[in-house]
Amino acid sequence: MDGNGRWAKQRHLPRAMGHQRGVDAVRTLVRAARQMGLEVLTLYAFSTENWRRSEDEVSTLMGLLKRYIQADLDEFVANNVRLKIIGEYRALASDIVELLDHALERTAQNDGTTLVVALNYGSQDEIARAAAKAAAKGPITPETIDAELDTAGLPPLDLLIRTSGEVRLSNFLLWQAAYAEMIFTDVLWPDFTPDHLRAALEEFSTRERRYGGR
Ligand code: FPP
Repeated sequence: MDGNGRWAKQRHLPRAMGHQRGVDAVRTLVRAARQMGLEVLTLYAFSTENWRRSEDEVSTLMGLLKRYIQADLDEFVANNVRLKIIGEYRALASDIVELLDHALERTAQNDGTTLVVALNYGSQDEIARAAAKAAAKGPITPETIDAELDTAGLPPLDLLIRTSGEVRLSNFLLWQAAYAEMIFTDVLWPDFTPDHLRAALEEFSTRERRYGGR
């Protein structure tokens, strides 16, 4: 969800306003994903590297996350949305951990769209943790690592979209992206609408996926 800061800068607004509009985009996209019948939507909300931002910005992001979950949890429950978190979210502030645990519990039985939020997430960290767990149990193979990733149990990643013109993965779902299709768009995250998602899915449907075969 890249480009909140630039969206705000272009308008001579504080970065926090960009993040606020980023959350508005999240809310709209999650609703659209549900209506489109997407099985899983994963959002990269806070990386292990994002701690390097100012204390002020980190606290803005945490506040926005908290308010979003508080405000939309009943809607998730009512609309059969299951929440899942990837990353070491238990290292976040205790009030956020409690809120997330409560939201996870309340939506655990839902089987409509799964909304996966990556929080305090870094893909290399996730792979290292999974490899250590796999090694403690037996041989390390792609399958045994896969089973220990934070994404275990989710379907394979089909499509990865990065907004705001950056063309790199930035430590996001590196393992899971092995055969994912990728779409890079110049649209800044706060401007990303359900129509952009629909266009990306349209493009995805034209890609020929060979998984290394011919
Ligand atoms: C990238 O924009 C965005 C983030 C680092 C944070 C995204 C988080 C939220 C929108 C808030 C909470 C999340 C949810 C799921 C409600 P940037 O600041 O890197 O923008 P820039 O590259 O233009 O500076």
